[in-house]
Amino acid sequence: MLSHVLLISVAFDTSEITPCNHNASLCSLDQSALDGSRRLMTQFKHACNRRMLRFLGRIFVSAQTQRSLNPAAVHRCFCSAAYPCLAVKPIMEPKLYRPPPEVRGMTALDKDAFTQTITVPALRVPIGVLNKVVKSLKKSSIQRPGVPRVVQDKEQSSDFRLVLLDPRRVSAPSSFSETEAEALRSFSVSEELHYYELKLTYDNLKSEEVLEAVLPQGQDVTSAFSRVGHIAHMNLRDHQLQYKNLIGQVIMDKNPGVTCVVNKTNIIDSTYRNFKMEVLAGEENMVAKVKENGVTYEFDFSRVYWNPRLSTEHQRVVQLVKRGDTVFDVFAGVGPFAIPAARLGASILANDLNPESYRWLQHNCKLNKVESKVRAFNLDGRAFIRGPLKQELPALMRGTSAVHVVMNLPALALDFLDAFRGLLHHQEPPCDENLPTVHCYGFSKDDDPDTDVVERASRSLGFPLKNRCSVHFVRNVAPNKDMMCVRFTLPKDVLFGSDAEESEPIEEPASKRQKCEETTNAT
Ligand SMILES: C[S@@+](CC[C@H](N)C(=O)[O-])C[C@H]1O[C@@H](n2cnc3c(N)ncnc32)[C@H](O)[C@@H]1O
Repeated sequence: MLSHVLLISVAFDTSEITPCNHNASLCSLDQSALDGSRRLMTQFKHACNRRMLRFLGRIFVSAQTQRSLNPAAVHRCFCSAAYPCLAVKPIMEPKLYRPPPEVRGMTALDKDAFTQTITVPALRVPIGVLNKVVKSLKKSSIQRPGVPRVVQDKEQSSDFRLVLLDPRRVSAPSSFSETEAEALRSFSVSEELHYYELKLTYDNLKSEEVLEAVLPQGQDVTSAFSRVGHIAHMNLRDHQLQYKNLIGQVIMDKNPGVTCVVNKTNIIDSTYRNFKMEVLAGEENMVAKVKENGVTYEFDFSRVYWNPRLSTEHQRVVQLVKRGDTVFDVFAGVGPFAIPAARLGASILANDLNPESYRWLQHNCKLNKVESKVRAFNLDGRAFIRGPLKQELPALMRGTSAVHVVMNLPALALDFLDAFRGLLHHQEPPCDENLPTVHCYGFSKDDDPDTDVVERASRSLGFPLKNRCSVHFVRNVAPNKDMMCVRFTLPKDVLFGSDAEESEPIEEPASKRQKCEETTNAT
């Protein structure tokens, strides 16, 4: 009994009593406990704050008048008996829901364990003005997935409903804004607060709330994921791995349309730039269907490269392509440059070394009805440049339509530029130059990524590109790693020069060369 009284006192001192958590304390008090507590309190009165004693006394008197001592009744007593200043504090709860402590450490999801009843303030509103009042109280009413804002007023006549309010915003009639108070007056709705026991279940919680409740306290519970069609793709930290299946299930439950959650099990380092992944929850179907910039793609996400964060970059480059142009896509993947460019009326030669990418590229060409505009190849990038590209280029250079070469393999593409050296050196250079525009991607960890990628491209090409190219920052892929795109007109000297792959590429100051070499090794 003593502990009950102390429990309440401690809670007061620390302002911890809230609609969510004080029920738990007060529920544990039965009627005799309250009587006993009251007797005990008289013995403590010299030690206790007089205001607090008066307050507690009023609570107990009110509680004793209740027929059955249910948590809501106690809560109502609490709120109506409290001094205004104390009445405010219990409801100033930063979180609406405090999960039961038993869920902490759960590894297999038990949805029922999250069910909890909380007490929320409410207004009694006549049915005739209900819609208008709900509209006026948008900011103060409760907003939660699956929780009704209006409920039946069980104790009163059927002419009234209860509008449930958010206890974090409304703790007393004075909590309403001037506009809200004015609206209530105009609809003749009393500002008197009523209290309603609201059952919150797993379905009413957000994924962060569930994960925060389950994962060890103080540890990062970030539940970020990338969405690729029906697949949510996560990158869990070590401390989260123990909960991986639960996390997967929660992400699936809370995100409509996600029917499969995967965790990538290694960094993207394979030749084909695809992730190894483990299914955490849902179906094992890895064939995703996505829409990017209005184009539909299908592919097996576990076997090809796809990055939803590149959609703006794909669009940026495709916008530079005109009807009648030709695009050589050296590292085409499943077609996010090639297919939209083909849809614009360009002719495409698209290549990828990964047989799966090649297969899905062809599939996507059919899906988007551009198979007549796209020729697909399954070659190494250098072989593609020295084969199909070399074969087509002379004729294209005699024409007037633009020629683009897209090289999106940022870890390696700059090194592949050497394949252009002396590519056409046995041939006669055309009089009218219609030289290809190259869009070559590279990662950089350098403090000056623009200079870094230009220097590396120059070295690989054997031709100084400084002041002859433009550099575009694509995105930051890691804290100290940027993805860049160097755009330049492929120099005639490179294409028609003697095959210079083995020769020293460019005349750069020795210090710069050194820096270049170091950077290349580091990337
Ligand atoms: C970063 S992905 C880019 C795919 C696509 N262009 C995009 O933007 O989504 C690079 C692609 O290059 C392919 N690849 C890797 N090494 C290659 C090589 N040596 N030759 C040709 N393709 C290669 C991979 O299979 C992958 O599809």
